[in-house]
Amino acid sequence: MRKILLVGNWKMHLNTHEASMLMHRLHEHIPIHRHVEVVLAPSALVLQPLSTTIDRRKFRLAAQNAYHIDEGAYTGEVSFAMLKDLVHYAIIGHSERRNVFGEDLKTIQLKMAAAVRNGITPILCIGETKTERLDGETMMVIHDQLTTAIHGLTSEEIEGLVVAYEPVWAISSGNNFAHHEVATPEEVEKVVGKIRHTITDLYGAKAAEKVRVLYGGSSNAENAEMYLRAKGVDGLLPGGASLHYWQFSRMVETAAEIQRERDIDG
Ligand code: PGA
Repeated sequence: MRKILLVGNWKMHLNTHEASMLMHRLHEHIPIHRHVEVVLAPSALVLQPLSTTIDRRKFRLAAQNAYHIDEGAYTGEVSFAMLKDLVHYAIIGHSERRNVFGEDLKTIQLKMAAAVRNGITPILCIGETKTERLDGETMMVIHDQLTTAIHGLTSEEIEGLVVAYEPVWAISSGNNFAHHEVATPEEVEKVVGKIRHTITDLYGAKAAEKVRVLYGGSSNAENAEMYLRAKGVDGLLPGGASLHYWQFSRMVETAAEIQRERDIDG
């Protein structure tokens, strides 16, 4: 059975001191959950210090980004090769990377390959913009972003993959929970179904069954249960809510309760 996975994307927030304070609070409020996986994605700067203090029974680390070439004259970049001893996961293709930093489909494909080559599990983010949604292009965008990103991976590599459906129009910019639309569980289920369907077509049902699919876009302690109960959803990728220990630890608690029910139901 797929374990519920919660990934806190801290984005470009928290300096080293603030990050270690948050880590401390999370450690206090989140017990060891054997059946829920909790991942933190702090800034690259903070990965190293956190990796030495983190309780590995409770948390794993993810990078938010890295460069696809392992080493060389690339001023300002950090490679997946450099991160491989620090992180289990790397977020790849986040809409902010695509839209603010101009990462195109090819770049994201190269990053996917680089992560896998270095033994880092990609958390591939895909999702349509508001305009694409209004133009009825959601499924096409999902198909294109997914198939190009995973092109060239083996079915074994696909099985370990995490895909996050993050509709760009539902992502809260910063901690502003007020001015954006919210995705309904039905909308999320449709796209999650499409993601598994696409993987089934390309790699077979076994691979599609193993891939974990997350939802991200203004998820928080209040709506976590609703999204986690949506069909096919294996976890959440909160941004804003992951910066508040009480929000994030409640989300973990909700995930643990739902996972317990699933374990009982077999
Ligand atoms: P949000 O961010 O939860 O603040 O909407 C999610 C994300 O961008 O990963």
